[in-house]
Amino acid sequence: MLELTYRCPLKCPWCSNPVNAAPGHGSELSTDEWKQVLRQGRELGALQLGFTGGEPMLRDDLEELVEEANRLGYYTNLITSGVGLSEARLVALKQAGLKQIQLSIQSSDRDLTDALVGAKVFDLKLKVARMIKAHGFPMVLNVPVFRHNVDQTAQVLAMAEDIGVDYLEFANIQYYNWALLNRDELMPTREQLERAERTVNEARQRLGDRMTIYFVIPDYHESRPKACMNGWGSIHLTIAPDGTAMPCQEARSIDGLSFPTVREHGLDWLWNESPTFRKFRGLDWMREPCRSCDEREIDFGGCRCQAFLLTGDACNTDPACAKSPHHDLIAQAVARATDPTRVRMPLIMRTAPQEQPT
Ligand code: SF4
Ligand code: FES
Repeated sequence: MLELTYRCPLKCPWCSNPVNAAPGHGSELSTDEWKQVLRQGRELGALQLGFTGGEPMLRDDLEELVEEANRLGYYTNLITSGVGLSEARLVALKQAGLKQIQLSIQSSDRDLTDALVGAKVFDLKLKVARMIKAHGFPMVLNVPVFRHNVDQTAQVLAMAEDIGVDYLEFANIQYYNWALLNRDELMPTREQLERAERTVNEARQRLGDRMTIYFVIPDYHESRPKACMNGWGSIHLTIAPDGTAMPCQEARSIDGLSFPTVREHGLDWLWNESPTFRKFRGLDWMREPCRSCDEREIDFGGCRCQAFLLTGDACNTDPACAKSPHHDLIAQAVARATDPTRVRMPLIMRTAPQEQPT
């Protein structure tokens, strides 16, 4: 996954990019530096490539990078808010060989969407969605799910059907960075999620193969954690805008790890040798209860970043697991967030990092 930039015109309060993404995170890689990363990735055997951000459309060299990735044999996916995706750029991306586009939309309601992302973009997003389909791209419509939109599942399904979306992903948000700051306000209740899931299941029956719909009850409301990244350093590599190589998008939340960049080392060393990638690879790092648990090869102990953010130690079992001695942290967070008597606070909107454009 290439995070081409942290710059973004939107202010989503569930943004998973670092809260302090700003000058301290260094300057963005140049076009040539990204191309070198692409070549090294293919040499390592990488095939699936996501261009993301921030908003990747803010990079003027996106088409050039897609073309290079396509030439090298990657299956390329663009993950975008749609802002900056003009018809001319869409055509250029098609010519460059882009294979799939994932477009985010927050609801089927104009005012709600615009308020949630802090910009008047709902009409633009709908237009871009139709344009993507008109140009023959397979499209994933990504809908982050939280308290403010979870009751709109039926309307969002109708909107996706009308657009002709191939894949509809209801992405229950994960509580890292901005989303963690806003956790009390964003978290839906278990009842809301179960209602939404029923609506999705009815739509699956009705739509059959016409649209694939993803919906998973989030770990805060379950007794087992997600198999985050399919295991640390197992199949996934993220490169941050400044070239930092990370086993997952949130890894820099964990204190005590070092994060070398592609400016200092090749991808081969970063992936195979860097202490950070080796730290939680496999099962040897585990403590109890994971160490002797018969589910350890199913979920790999959950998410290292969530374990660190909630317990202060990334070696701990993810507290989303009911076997974790810290599971009460999750139970308390759910109880606080979904307490109907609690006074609601305004969402803390993401503030824009001041990265240098290339
Ligand atoms: Fe997974 Fe660890 Fe929980 Fe077992 S104890 S289910 S390995 S998180
Ligand atoms: Fe980093 Fe889960 S997000 S390991």
